[in-house]
Amino acid sequence: MTASLNSKMFNIDKVRADFPILHQEVNGSPLVYLDSAATTQKPQAVIDAITQYYSGYNSNVHRGAHSLADKATYVFENSRKQVAAFINSPSVNQVLWTRGTTESINLVAQSWGQTNIGEGDEILVSALEHHANIVPWQILAEQKGAKVIPIPLDSAGDIDQGAFESLLSERVKLLAISHVSNALGSVNPVADMIAKAKAYGAVTLVDGAQAVAHLPVDVQQLGCDFYVFSGHKLFGPTGVGVLWGQEALLESMPPYQSGGEMIDTVSFDGTTFNGLPFKFEAGTPHIEGVVGLGAGIEYLNALDRDAVKRHEDDLMAYTIEQSEACDGLVRIGQAKHQAGAFSFLLNGAHPSDIGMLLDQQGIAVRTGHHCAQPLMNTLAIPGTVRASFSLYNNRDDIDRLFAGLAKAKQFLL
Ligand code: ALA
Repeated sequence: MTASLNSKMFNIDKVRADFPILHQEVNGSPLVYLDSAATTQKPQAVIDAITQYYSGYNSNVHRGAHSLADKATYVFENSRKQVAAFINSPSVNQVLWTRGTTESINLVAQSWGQTNIGEGDEILVSALEHHANIVPWQILAEQKGAKVIPIPLDSAGDIDQGAFESLLSERVKLLAISHVSNALGSVNPVADMIAKAKAYGAVTLVDGAQAVAHLPVDVQQLGCDFYVFSGHKLFGPTGVGVLWGQEALLESMPPYQSGGEMIDTVSFDGTTFNGLPFKFEAGTPHIEGVVGLGAGIEYLNALDRDAVKRHEDDLMAYTIEQSEACDGLVRIGQAKHQAGAFSFLLNGAHPSDIGMLLDQQGIAVRTGHHCAQPLMNTLAIPGTVRASFSLYNNRDDIDRLFAGLAKAKQFLL
């Protein structure tokens, strides 16, 4: 194959130049942004797409009888097509816009769950889930007399597969697991777990918030019933996300919110609902968010994804190697396959002290329980320091992190 057949490239210096926010000083030092698991930075292409929407064709979608509305609708629906292709959805109608991962999970809990979960049913989650993939199920379970059962972890921080298999039974109506742990970066064997849960007739939901920017996602290959993620962890804006679902399930589910756009006809004798995906999209949507998310996916698609993956794997391997030479550092979570996030403690210090000492050196990390309190309780720690990466990080960022930790140690007792 000649080079011209594959014009996609990955050049880290060029990629870094695409993210304007990276090129600034914070607290007197060049910024090192290691908090992409909380939110990714945005390339200029996304910022430009949002600016062009507001300065060129700001309009409501699906409603107008004029050219600006047509253009807004075209770009809005084109983003849906981009998402469908990005996750290999069989149909564009299976891609629903939400406010983010959290709203997508709440929608499934209160629409699918209200009609399909009953007394004594079991909902399996893992012990490393984000609160967004625990609390909506707890509320549903409380409403319906069902049980939320956590699958325990092994000592490395991987989901204990033996324990998972022993929890499976006909009582399990739902398996809801993260593709990648936000707190530890563990990549979970979701395809395998989905197949096992489906053998018992369970419905499966995958929280892909931390996966979509790091791993190729193919919903057909995964075999899941629902896949959810947020735009802002995929180089797009906050306040927009995706719920992907199996068409027959989505068709069978009642609306989650009601109002304009989700209806077919309304009268005081009764209302009929719109078809997919609009049945679940009441009200004016986050148009700018959808436009920006489409641009974020386009940005990622233009890069050589294999090269991006190799680059991110190298960053993780380099971080692990450097951490082994860092006295006093205890790695939290040593999953077989880690993506995006590296959690640790240092010299027994409180994570927030480390975070503050790093911030003073221009290094942005997240500290605390990472919205995964049950995981922290299991590990018997108050929280961790989490360095999380994206395609725009480089080895210099990791060197700065460890130099920053060496300096921070001087201030710790
Ligand atoms: N869920 C995001 C995180 O892990 C906010 O930081």
